[in-house]
Amino acid sequence: MKTSIPADFKTLWRLARGAPAGKNHADRLERFYRPQAESYDAFRDRLLQGRAELIELLAPPDGALIVELGAGTGNNARHFGAQLARFETVELVDLCPALLEQARERWAHEPRVRVIEADATHYRPSRPADRVYLSYSLTMMPEWRAALENAVAMLKPGGILGVVDFELPRGDCLAERCACEFWRRWFAHDGVYLNRAHVEVMQSLTETVSLRESNAALPYLPGLRVPYYIYVGRKPLPANTLQ
Ligand SMILES: C[S@@+](CC[C@H](N)C(=O)[O-])C[C@H]1O[C@@H](n2cnc3c(N)ncnc32)[C@H](O)[C@@H]1O
Repeated sequence: MKTSIPADFKTLWRLARGAPAGKNHADRLERFYRPQAESYDAFRDRLLQGRAELIELLAPPDGALIVELGAGTGNNARHFGAQLARFETVELVDLCPALLEQARERWAHEPRVRVIEADATHYRPSRPADRVYLSYSLTMMPEWRAALENAVAMLKPGGILGVVDFELPRGDCLAERCACEFWRRWFAHDGVYLNRAHVEVMQSLTETVSLRESNAALPYLPGLRVPYYIYVGRKPLPANTLQ
């Protein structure tokens, strides 16, 4: 994706101003993203690491119904590549019209991809999903627990939940506690709330298949690295199911 300094500046300016006020969550998202919607992908490609890796780990079967909650511009579904032809549908769900416009434009040629304006805490596909994933959206959902419960509820038994997102540094030494507070405040300024409980709740709702943790560099901030994780979990089969 091509980067451009003026487009980056627009995004950085919006980020520097912080999360706007609004009458509700959807309104705040729209006010935050509308001015940067067209330059969203170029900047986030350098900021949001691990997304292609998550999509690879999902490994959906033929005929799969796949749901992304908080899909934004629909950029992540590109990572399915030619595999898309094997799936039934990829549903891209988001609350923000400005980003969904970008997603609709991107996927206008592909009938397998549906772009849906809905809240991740309530949306349900027409049948149980094979894969549900969230990419850097959980930390922007005030009702994140409800979103995770809804994600698992919409999965078929044995289906896979995948999440990639920022997390707080672990460890209890002074340097780590300072880093923790720094990142908590830094992200909260833009309406992004890092919380160690996110992974714990995923692990309580699904059987952990893998949890990878790493650190990502940040555009225009040499030397700083922020922790992120990639979680993959399986929805348990009912207790009386023969394996
Ligand atoms: C940082 S963006 C990530 C977008 C995309 N998943 C990506 O990886 O680029 C967070 C997204 O979560 C969406 N979002 C936040 N709360 C939501 C909710 N309750 N329901 C649906 N989408 C939501 C925002 O509108 C935004 O598109």
